[in-house]
Amino acid sequence: MKYSEFGNKFLTDSGILRLMDDLGNAMAEGGKDMLMLGGGNPAHIPEIETLFRSRIEEIVNNKNEFECVVGNYDTPRGEKYFIHYLAEMLSENFGWKVGPENIALTNGSQTAFFYLFNMFAGVHKSGQQKKILLPLAPEYIGYSDVGLTDDFFTTFKPDISHLDNKMFKYQVNFSDLEITDEIAAICVSRPTNPTGNVLTDDEIDKLSNLAIQHKIPLIIDNAYGTPFPNIIFTNAKPIWDRHIVLSMSLSKLGLPGTRTGILVANEEIIEMIVRMNAVLSLAPNSVGVALALSLFRSSQIIEVSKKIILPFYQDKVKKAFDLLSSELEGLDCHIHKPEGALFLWLWMKDLPISDQELYNRLKDRKTLVVPGHYFFPGLKEEWRHKSECIRITYTMAEDIVEKGLKNIADEVRKAYGV
Ligand SMILES: Cc1ncc(COP(=O)(O)O)c(C=O)c1O
Repeated sequence: MKYSEFGNKFLTDSGILRLMDDLGNAMAEGGKDMLMLGGGNPAHIPEIETLFRSRIEEIVNNKNEFECVVGNYDTPRGEKYFIHYLAEMLSENFGWKVGPENIALTNGSQTAFFYLFNMFAGVHKSGQQKKILLPLAPEYIGYSDVGLTDDFFTTFKPDISHLDNKMFKYQVNFSDLEITDEIAAICVSRPTNPTGNVLTDDEIDKLSNLAIQHKIPLIIDNAYGTPFPNIIFTNAKPIWDRHIVLSMSLSKLGLPGTRTGILVANEEIIEMIVRMNAVLSLAPNSVGVALALSLFRSSQIIEVSKKIILPFYQDKVKKAFDLLSSELEGLDCHIHKPEGALFLWLWMKDLPISDQELYNRLKDRKTLVVPGHYFFPGLKEEWRHKSECIRITYTMAEDIVEKGLKNIADEVRKAYGV
């Protein structure tokens, strides 16, 4: 077949394809065979599943509601009541001047990033090729391949501070960060996938001021943040303003299968998203918002996130961190301070084999992780650190996580030859 440039782009193997394929196959087998510590699947939290199960029953038993949810298209902006309740919740809780005109839904936030990135970066009328600045590497693997032109991202090596218990934390290297006129927008995930880092309020304030100064948007990917799903273990101040595009999702709340992303932005940007929805998918999915509607109507989602979701992950991350640290005792291995999201990010200093080779060896032992080098979109400099890290998901059942972490530590020891 002869494909267009657009078609050819999808002929090359992307990291996200490999990752989602591994994840889908392992999940389809119920995790029987594979210790799945590689994907971004949220945990199955029984209380949350009960909430959504009873809501489905309510919808199914309510004749009109069921017919409307599955039998009608929503508008290209998304379901009206859900958007209304969300706007109310954000203005009441955070004092943001947000109305329904500032919100649009998409088929998952992954789709929202395809829209946003290509809407700002790429070739402009002047002929200039503009880029998305990712101020803190490592950054989310899912951004890497969404740009429709090459050379789409730019980033810088981060500062690294070493903390107690052999933890470390990446920080934005503001002295290297330069915003030239080729930068179309700034984007950060907060909490960050893959590291579990949470950019500090000070870092976010500085990025926000840079965005204002250069008249470009600051996109904050809040897939794991507050007020929902609230998988965030530090006190980070939520932020939105007219130059900020805040991306949220129902996925990590426990609804990844419903593909529901949410964007909060100024009216002009939201109008563009609505137009793109209409052209590319007619309307966003209605099922996720129907399941979540009552939680948002009463702002109950905030309590549910604080009282059920947060403690669930806090407990899991602590157990995983403690076990991995003790299994790696004596090695030059460091774990990024887990401040949020679903992952432990392991840095194996001067590891004699690459992250890819470690991935292969672990896959042979039926243990899946994600090699770290995928998470540096836009970093052109050679940096050994990129192949010294892996991302480990801690959301699966305790016995799976435990076996997986022990296999990882064992292979890492072998690789160091100790
Ligand atoms: C940081 C981040 N952003 C966006 C997404 C996309 O999520 P979804 O398309 O399910 O909303 C993910 C998924 O793992 C993620 O980790």
